[in-house]
Amino acid sequence: MLKNILITGGAGYIGSHTARAFLDKGYGVVVVDDLSSGYLEAVPEGAGFVRANIHNVAEIIDIIRRNDIEGVIHFAAKIIVPESITQPLDYYSNNTGGVLSMLHACKATGIDKLVFSSTAAVYGDAGSDLITEDFPIQPINPYGCSKYFSERIIRDCGLAYGINSVILRYFNVAGAAHDITNGQRSKISTHLIKLASEAALGIIPHLKMTGTDFKTRDGTGIRDYIHVEDLADLHTLAFEYLENGGASDIFNCGYGHGYSVREVIDTMKKVSGIDFPVIESERRPGDAATLVASNAKIKKSFNWTPKRNNLELICRSAFQWESIWQERLREIKERELQLKKLREKNAGENIKERSFQPSA
Ligand SMILES: NC(=O)c1ccc[n+]([C@@H]2O[C@H](COP(=O)([O-])OP(=O)(O)OC[C@H]3O[C@@H](n4cnc5c(N)ncnc54)[C@H](O)[C@@H]3O)[C@@H](O)[C@H]2O)c1
Repeated sequence: MLKNILITGGAGYIGSHTARAFLDKGYGVVVVDDLSSGYLEAVPEGAGFVRANIHNVAEIIDIIRRNDIEGVIHFAAKIIVPESITQPLDYYSNNTGGVLSMLHACKATGIDKLVFSSTAAVYGDAGSDLITEDFPIQPINPYGCSKYFSERIIRDCGLAYGINSVILRYFNVAGAAHDITNGQRSKISTHLIKLASEAALGIIPHLKMTGTDFKTRDGTGIRDYIHVEDLADLHTLAFEYLENGGASDIFNCGYGHGYSVREVIDTMKKVSGIDFPVIESERRPGDAATLVASNAKIKKSFNWTPKRNNLELICRSAFQWESIWQERLREIKERELQLKKLREKNAGENIKERSFQPSA
């Protein structure tokens, strides 16, 4: 019989796609999210939802017990790298502290299967080789550090309490659901493909190409872009791996080849049919020249074959989703404006006394 799983951060971009992948495989899914950056409407039909903060250990324990949960997929985190540099405490509290809370809840309830969202940011600027999981760890921003510290804590708790884990280090996640019913909604995004979609739709006036003097084939940064649905599938495979007694381990999630910023922009222009403005600017502090995953380990261990390894497909789905999402945002804003006007009108009418015209 398939199990019930808890997905923290399941109202967010990757978590909501993953929730759907688990439901499609027949698992029961309960999402816990505080909606700080997620959206309730992203949680797929069929999944339970509890609005809660992962720091509330007692509540998480109660949710696990009430729902007969067998394993946890932990996404909930703050994810904006530049913000982590100016507000490191928020990142260590929410990301590393959040993992501590979840581990307390797992220990208290006997949960022994955990899949954790980590990031290629733990490698820092690894150079131009394919990055294997044993590459030196040298995160260059608090976001990457907050994830690396989480990894260490998860490893120690695995050894001490028998909480088996799969740590997935994602490279650049992009794209939208195959039926364009879900995609990235983030209010603040630093993700190139989302920004390029926004530029194509005129939501932002131009796309900033940050750094054109890297030692790469065209001077711009090279990244390994993985389709969000392939990544979602990997979480189900990771959980099955643990169910089948797989040992705690760390895996890179990527396609094993990268595209430069210029190549991504050209692809977005091609699939959208829009020649949006692009401005060349300085490098951002902490940006690596190249980050490309070696995926040999995950392919072999999970018997994984990517299904959507295609930059045009990724960009097209992201652009189609962005068009739908921006339309929806316009509707929401329009409705909010109408409600505000109605409230103001009512407030004016709701006066205590109204003067009258005395009879002559
Ligand atoms: N997007 C990427 O390219 C990428 C790359 C590497 C790693 N990751 C990791 O993947 C995970 C998901 O990222 P995403 O892109 O879906 O981000 P997201 O912001 O869309 O999702 C994060 C979700 O977690 C929730 N959340 C945050 N703090 C919480 C808390 N304290 N309690 C309850 N819920 C909380 C948010 O409301 C949101 O729904 C994160 O852990 C992130 O670090 C993402």
